[in-house]
Amino acid sequence: MAAATTKTRVRHPVFARIYPRVNRFAEAHGATEHRRELLADATGCVVEVGAGGGATFRHYPPQVSRVIAVEPEPRLRRLARLVSAEAPVPVEVRAGQAEELPLADGSADGVVVSLVLCSLADVPRALAEARRVLRPGGSLYFYEHVRSTHARLARKQRLLDRVWPLFAGGCRLTRDSEQAVIDAGFSIQRVRRFDFVINGRTTPSSPCVIGVGRKP
Ligand SMILES: C[S@@+](CC[C@H](N)C(=O)[O-])C[C@H]1O[C@@H](n2cnc3c(N)ncnc32)[C@H](O)[C@@H]1O
Repeated sequence: MAAATTKTRVRHPVFARIYPRVNRFAEAHGATEHRRELLADATGCVVEVGAGGGATFRHYPPQVSRVIAVEPEPRLRRLARLVSAEAPVPVEVRAGQAEELPLADGSADGVVVSLVLCSLADVPRALAEARRVLRPGGSLYFYEHVRSTHARLARKQRLLDRVWPLFAGGCRLTRDSEQAVIDAGFSIQRVRRFDFVINGRTTPSSPCVIGVGRKP
């Protein structure tokens, strides 16, 4: 486990009530397919960081032998535990934070972050933790909304970021999560950038990335 301890507690009671509904809406408009794409090649023992209410659990493919899901927010963690009973693979839900994962070095074949890097206080530290718990050659699977490459939308995201985190559980719109994964020392194996357009509308969180990074 990481040497330093993280004192920050993650509690977003209002967001935790609303998020499952927001997620169901997103899944009905394409996020289900995104989650399947994210997890298609996952295999062996997988650590899911910031699992929320367990929305990814039902999408793990049979070649995944076990999922250890880490979620710091108490209400979402309770929901994840309920949902884990219905998962097609064994899922254990643990309390913990991305910056200090409750797992041994090199113990995972894969780490999953799904719409999580946007919400973390310390992304480099969290990705260093993901690297630590992965075995050499292990994979980081990431699905994130990111900063737009279009100047106009990027400007809108920057402005919105002044208030957005207050309503969205600390989420920020302006992160370049693919670059953060590269900066953390992962080599990108595959990546797809796209706009998640819902009912023909581009939203501030439309620019997305789904990819896999490999630990050397
Ligand atoms: C937008 S939700 C995504 C939930 C889920 N991964 C999904 O795909 O639906 C962001 C999640 O990140 C979690 N989170 C926030 N800060 C965290 C931290 N420091 N460590 C781990 N998870 C964190 C939140 O509690 C929440 O469950």
